[in-house]
Amino acid sequence: MRHNTSMRYQAPRGTEDVLPGDSERRRRLEDTFLSLAGQYGYRELRTPVFEDTELFVRSAGETSDIVTKQMYTFLDKGDRSITLKPEGTAPAMRAVIQHNLCPQGTVARLSYVTPIFRYERPQKGRLRQAHQVGLECVGSASPRADVEVIEITARFYEALGLRPLVLLNSLGRDACRAAYRGAVLAHLADYLRGQDEDVRTRAEANPLRLLDSKDPEVHQALVGVPSIEKFWEDESRERHEAVLQGLGRAGVAYEVSQSLVRGLDYYTETVFEVQSDSIGAQSALCGGGRYDDLVAQMGGPSTPAVGVAMGIERALLTMEAEGIAWPEPRPDVFVVSLPGCEIPAEERARALRADGLSVLVDVDGRSFQAQLRQAGKSGARFAVILGEDEVAQGCATLRDLASGDQRSVPNADLSAAVRESRS
Ligand code: HAM
Repeated sequence: MRHNTSMRYQAPRGTEDVLPGDSERRRRLEDTFLSLAGQYGYRELRTPVFEDTELFVRSAGETSDIVTKQMYTFLDKGDRSITLKPEGTAPAMRAVIQHNLCPQGTVARLSYVTPIFRYERPQKGRLRQAHQVGLECVGSASPRADVEVIEITARFYEALGLRPLVLLNSLGRDACRAAYRGAVLAHLADYLRGQDEDVRTRAEANPLRLLDSKDPEVHQALVGVPSIEKFWEDESRERHEAVLQGLGRAGVAYEVSQSLVRGLDYYTETVFEVQSDSIGAQSALCGGGRYDDLVAQMGGPSTPAVGVAMGIERALLTMEAEGIAWPEPRPDVFVVSLPGCEIPAEERARALRADGLSVLVDVDGRSFQAQLRQAGKSGARFAVILGEDEVAQGCATLRDLASGDQRSVPNADLSAAVRESRS
């Protein structure tokens, strides 16, 4: 009986299988990030895929979209409320506190590569399981720490072949934000009177979210809203200036954007994003900023910190849209055997791999011609051809699959011959 069940299962909505080709590009992107971050002294931290729900409610903000609408939360069999991590900063700070990674007076530099889970409406560049690479610089209140994080961010996109423009703003300190929230609410009072209760409650809980709204009606209502700059404390203004100067020294292109507010509640002062013009509505490539109160809010000692997370899918989409291609990996050699020489072919393949080459060999008894065709399709640079004569003489025919040139090479010299022509 024929079963045709294979089409029934699909990857869940908003998730992606990462297929060969894409997986190699991702690995290269992740390696590029981790080694760049390593050059600045950042060391990798890996935290669990799930945490206690409370951790995210307290850190991202009870009124944030992430907490109110997007968390994958469930009770485990021990009746604990568990949440798949919607972002990496709160787990990283939980680990910093738990393992005392940043004793007073020190700076901890942490990098990470992580999946994140957000129940959002999927569209291009927006997934329910997405992936980020990120950095957290913990323990320094200096604007030079802000600059370091933003500089690495810019260098990362440059390493991918992109030309990043950093948008940045300062949200000031507590008193500044409180006063500014009041000013925005007062400015929007007429507009909000016409809205339903849900919109009003959300706006009152955090009116700053409306500043980067994409709704044209909100845009209209915001015309003439005072800019946050007028509410900055002197320290915030000085930090902002120092960050801009530092970015200038680092050769990072930036633009100050007073409407940049970010969707997480833990930010204080510096916030920034890099956007892409080439991937549609989900244009934020990364987001980050300073969050000096978070560690204390989570029960740790008062610890200033600044960080960033960059979406992996959006970086890859932008590279694709801008025609930046990384070559796919190709095997060095396909070992092709004439009838009766399958076992010596297997041994040759093993010996070449032991010398560090990547080598394919037929495993299901195909004809000589079929193996040659496969060798061509595989993208291998060379075919190593073995017949009875070669086996008897301890050599092989090395064929360059691009030019068709071939010559006889003693077994002992094969790896070196492949390497020489490869470089
Ligand atoms: P975020 O802005 O929520 O910040 O996310 C950072 C980046 O992750 C976004 O700019 C985007 O590229 C990517 N991203 C987020 N959600 C999705 C999604 N559903 N689909 C595809 N990509 C997505 C944070 O997560 C903060 N933890 C950043 C941070 C680190 N702040 C301080 N340290």
